[in-house]
Amino acid sequence: MNVAKTMNPMGPSSENCTPSAKERFAHALTLVPEIAQVEARIRSTFRSDVVLMREIPDYLLTLGGKRIRPILSLLCSKALGAEEITPDIIDISAGIELIHMATLMHDDIIDQSPVRRHQPSPYAKFGTPATLLSGDFLLTRAFGLCSKLDQEIIEATEQACIELVEGEALETLLHQDEHSVQKSLTIATRKTASLFKLSAFCAAHLTDSTEETTKAMSLFGEALGIAFQIIDDILDVTSNEATLGKRPGLDIFERKPSLVNMLWLESGDPLAKRLLVAPDPRTEGEYVERALVALRDGPVIQKTKALARQYADAATKELAKALGNDLHNLTPEGEALFAVIDFALERVL
Ligand code: FPP
Ligand code: MG
Repeated sequence: MNVAKTMNPMGPSSENCTPSAKERFAHALTLVPEIAQVEARIRSTFRSDVVLMREIPDYLLTLGGKRIRPILSLLCSKALGAEEITPDIIDISAGIELIHMATLMHDDIIDQSPVRRHQPSPYAKFGTPATLLSGDFLLTRAFGLCSKLDQEIIEATEQACIELVEGEALETLLHQDEHSVQKSLTIATRKTASLFKLSAFCAAHLTDSTEETTKAMSLFGEALGIAFQIIDDILDVTSNEATLGKRPGLDIFERKPSLVNMLWLESGDPLAKRLLVAPDPRTEGEYVERALVALRDGPVIQKTKALARQYADAATKELAKALGNDLHNLTPEGEALFAVIDFALERVL
């Protein structure tokens, strides 16, 4: 939903120059300069007399990333009326990003992924034992930050981490296990949406929101996270190496139960059947190329986009509810949250 027409924080706009979702997202970032404090808090946890336990986390953090989870918790806090960003919000935002970093380290080991954020993954650069232990280190640091907060935050963080592990455990390969579109959505809910939901929940909880608002914010975060994962699955097919930071078609090559792969199998396309067979190194490159040509701009991608839109719409509805359904009087941060949803969708539409 482009609420920029009702309120444009980038300045006056004429009919023809409504800012794009990308511009509105860039503007959103300027509303949360506290992200620098979150970054400093994250770095402050990289303390160890074992050099690798400082070096590997620092390597991953320096590779970049959108920092979408802490940006969400900061924007949600302000949109819900926080007059200032308290140390508690900084701590939980840093903790959530630390958990995310730990999952990426472990995930690259599981997927044996050589590339992360356009560069050698920590696993490729430092090997399995050191990367595995760095993930453990970051997860422990995250719980150090979170354990200073109240019981509800601790329990919600525990629940999100359990869901992350369960989501990853459910994501067995297509030729090893039976999957369905529904199971793929369950995986996305647990392995991706859990931290988005936690970011939004913590912001609502720490700004003393009502139970109803906290629920709506949490559902907003969850639906946005699912939309993000579906969009990631689409980009794996439709984007290119320069944008993705890794080769396109990896979900096909890795036989992942992504939404695109599940809908492709469901379509009955004979080419999709090979997803159910382990990759053959001699002919796999050619198969992935043929699969990408068959899928790009075809009905399977259109169907996946429709699903992403459905979750983005659910996120919009819950966000509007959390912000009191008063779209004509949004704060700049409230508007920025709608821009995050639009920006996610604009990457694939
Ligand atoms: C990326 O998926 C993976 C995740 C979002 C979750 C990974 C979760 C774990 C490894 C469980 C460990 C949990 C904790 C709490 C440390 P992807 O492979 O589809 O995406 P990618 O292309 O970015 O690798
Ligand atoms: Mg992976």
